[in-house]
Amino acid sequence: MDSFTIANTSTSTGERLHQVDMPRFGLGVYLMGEPGECKSSVLYALEQGYRLIDTAMAYGNEDEVGQAIRESGIPRDNIFVVTKLRQPHANSHEETVQRCQQSLENLGLDYMDLYLVHAPPKDIGARAPVWQGMEECLSNGWTRSIGVSNYGAHHLDAMLSYASVMPSVNQIEINPWLQRPALRAASEGVGAKVMAYSPLARGHKLDDSGISGIAASLGCTPAQAAIKWCFDAGAITIPKSSKPTRISENLASLEVDLSGTEEEFAALEESYVSGWDPTSEP
Ligand SMILES: NC(=O)c1ccc[n+]([C@@H]2O[C@H](COP(=O)([O-])OP(=O)(O)OC[C@H]3O[C@@H](n4cnc5c(N)ncnc54)[C@H](OP(=O)(O)O)[C@@H]3O)[C@@H](O)[C@H]2O)c1
Repeated sequence: MDSFTIANTSTSTGERLHQVDMPRFGLGVYLMGEPGECKSSVLYALEQGYRLIDTAMAYGNEDEVGQAIRESGIPRDNIFVVTKLRQPHANSHEETVQRCQQSLENLGLDYMDLYLVHAPPKDIGARAPVWQGMEECLSNGWTRSIGVSNYGAHHLDAMLSYASVMPSVNQIEINPWLQRPALRAASEGVGAKVMAYSPLARGHKLDDSGISGIAASLGCTPAQAAIKWCFDAGAITIPKSSKPTRISENLASLEVDLSGTEEEFAALEESYVSGWDPTSEP
């Protein structure tokens, strides 16, 4: 599995600290609400070769992710676990530290690999103390890396004034219909790798003629074309599926060669947001 080295970079010296290898492809587990659905999906994905799982306290399935990891028999250090601090819980330094411990308890793990602030705290005054809480989780060894999600360029710029280390990752919605070159560049500009969530735009666009035509010309499925576009754009990519055939199909997208389709993908851009978009919050 291809990986990136991600790092929390010192804001004062620019030194890359807390470097970690992170697989560039994984399974998202949002909206796996049926009891056992998340556990069986993660177990199947791990059997197929997935090594990155993206969950969140908000998804209510951290416990099943942990169970699947233990049952898989795969050594813990071969699996990369991402979870997130809920936006309504992102209120203070103390609450951030406490919620991180709660996520570890839910997961049944000693550490996570990447802990993300799920979205910019609503209270602008809470953003600095929340991040300082994240830094404490990192220095306590509860997580190997810290990052953010749904941060716009202005949120990242503000961090330069209050962070000791900058985020290793910014997880944002990216797909062929929402390509965001400026936000990707702003994230990389502060040392954060881009992680593409909803790479399939939640399935909303997979029957459109644009992506279907590209996929037909490549001999792959529309989902595979969309996933590989995100991956080739340099993003860590985490499609969700609860269906074994699709979990395998999505992994096989990494073999697809998109050469020659650049202009057709560029034409799919339509600033389409499939879920929420906190990047535009003040
Ligand atoms: N940080 C954030 O704010 C945030 C927000 C959203 C998502 N995320 C993360 O990103 C992950 C992925 O995003 P997402 O779940 O929103 O959406 P997504 O991965 O873009 O799309 C998932 C949808 O597409 C369907 N699907 C999956 N593979 C398919 C295939 N090969 N062919 C046709 N349909 C397919 C799934 O249905 P089936 O399950 O029935 O196959 C599901 O309905 C989430 O699970 C979560 O981990 C993070």
